[in-house]
Amino acid sequence: MKLICVKDAAEMSAYAAKQIGDAVRRNPKLVLGLATGGTPKETYRLLVEEYNKKAISFRNVRTVNLDEYVGLSSADPNSYRMYMKQNLFDKIDISFDNCHLPDGIASSPSDACVRYDRMINELNGIDLQLLGIGRNGHIGFNEPGTPFDAGTHLVKLSESTRKANARYFHSEEEVPKQAITMGIGTILKSRAILLIVSGSSKADAMGRLLSLNGPDPAFPASALLMHPDVTVIADREALSKS
Ligand code: GLP
Repeated sequence: MKLICVKDAAEMSAYAAKQIGDAVRRNPKLVLGLATGGTPKETYRLLVEEYNKKAISFRNVRTVNLDEYVGLSSADPNSYRMYMKQNLFDKIDISFDNCHLPDGIASSPSDACVRYDRMINELNGIDLQLLGIGRNGHIGFNEPGTPFDAGTHLVKLSESTRKANARYFHSEEEVPKQAITMGIGTILKSRAILLIVSGSSKADAMGRLLSLNGPDPAFPASALLMHPDVTVIADREALSKS
């Protein structure tokens, strides 16, 4: 695991946007794994800025998102598809047919999970996966205890995750109780992984990640220790307990 220490969220985002931009310039048909949450927003804004400067094109890029809430349609303002449209897809030249997220309103979520992994295989896997981290160490929506070999699956969200994500909803009760997430097994098959971490609310998680001697399913992000090409970009506040 390669650790890049940066000053703040702005530097973290600039570094991540540069890594992603360079990967797309090297391979215009990149299969890019994307994350949601507050952390990647500025990275996406910088990629849009690059696109507006005509310094990058996403015309042939394929994207796969980590997760989606169960029960929220793509038109729901809190769905991750809407987040992606608002923060990235609607602002660049990507083809919507190339943008994939788990189907949160599938009549059979388990079939939707199987379809999602099959689709990733058909794309020949993920070239570069962007990740954030939850305060309890979750990646995607893989909560503590998730087996490291799991494929895309249905999850019950922990109370701490629902609380942390309630800021995007009118109330905590509105936060869906379930989600579909790429599994840790799916994530680990990515050829390269970029984990971005910012702010003091992530300091405990970072402290734990950097002090572990080996992978431990009680702390999902520790699965990254098993991967040969992980870059962690973390700011000073996130590293304040490391
Ligand atoms: C959500 C997402 C994760 C994300 C995490 C951290 O639970 N499913 O993919 O990494 O939140 O979010 P934030 O960046 O807002 O702290």
